[in-house]
Amino acid sequence: MRLLLCGDVVGRPGREAVARHVPRLRRELALDFVVVNGENAAHGFGITDKNCAEFYEGGVDVVTTGNHVWDRREIMSYIGGDKRLLRPINYPPASPGNGFGIYPLADGRSVLVVNAMARLFMDAIDDPFAAIDRLLREHSLREVSAIVVDFHGEATSEKTSMGHFCDGRASLVAGTHSHVPTADHRILANGTAYITDVGMCGDYDSVIGMRKEGSVARFVTKLPGERLEVAEGEATLCAVAVETDDATGLAREIVPVRIGGRLAPHWPAFTREAVAAK
Ligand SMILES: [Fe+2]
Ligand SMILES: [Fe+2]
Repeated sequence: MRLLLCGDVVGRPGREAVARHVPRLRRELALDFVVVNGENAAHGFGITDKNCAEFYEGGVDVVTTGNHVWDRREIMSYIGGDKRLLRPINYPPASPGNGFGIYPLADGRSVLVVNAMARLFMDAIDDPFAAIDRLLREHSLREVSAIVVDFHGEATSEKTSMGHFCDGRASLVAGTHSHVPTADHRILANGTAYITDVGMCGDYDSVIGMRKEGSVARFVTKLPGERLEVAEGEATLCAVAVETDDATGLAREIVPVRIGGRLAPHWPAFTREAVAAK
């Protein structure tokens, strides 16, 4: 199975990058399933039902979120009716919405996607390791064809620990939230594809997707500034593409994706195709 997971989509430039590039990636990489983290889709803060509809129309299967999930209050009444929109599984049990879902493909295979949030330098919430462990004891790669974990957090140590904690039990553990891609994508010892942070789908001539002037001024003056605005230049779509083995659900390959905007481009190719093309 071939999966794509796009990092935090920031504002209109991020949404445009997803709309422009995901259909082509789907086609050219023969992707079976696409996940995007949409927590910053609505002007940098939160997500709306309209954003979700746009994602689904553009070839996205599931939308994950994180600490910004409730920034648009309307989403609280919407999320319970949309099984494809996830919030962190380790939020208080009374929170609306779901932390995971199992999604059938037309060909009979299925994908489990779970969204969890880290705790270091984040809001104090329930233990994400216990939540993920419970879920992976209930649902395993024997039951579903692939398991994708979006672990939304700040600290690289906590995210790497989640990778090892899930190693051999998930197809992919991808970190989100920092909005900056890391170069440590790899397959862990027991077969789980891992990256500490996928990066954002947003304008990198910015401070993590927001206009650089306002963000810099806050650090320089230590005064509360105006509300941060989304940087409106061309976004870089940042993602990882993963190929799994359908027999085991474990990863064969993970490749970074960077398209458009300011970051050095990396159009992904899976090795089998790259070799065949030579
Ligand atoms: Fe984010
Ligand atoms: Fe976040």
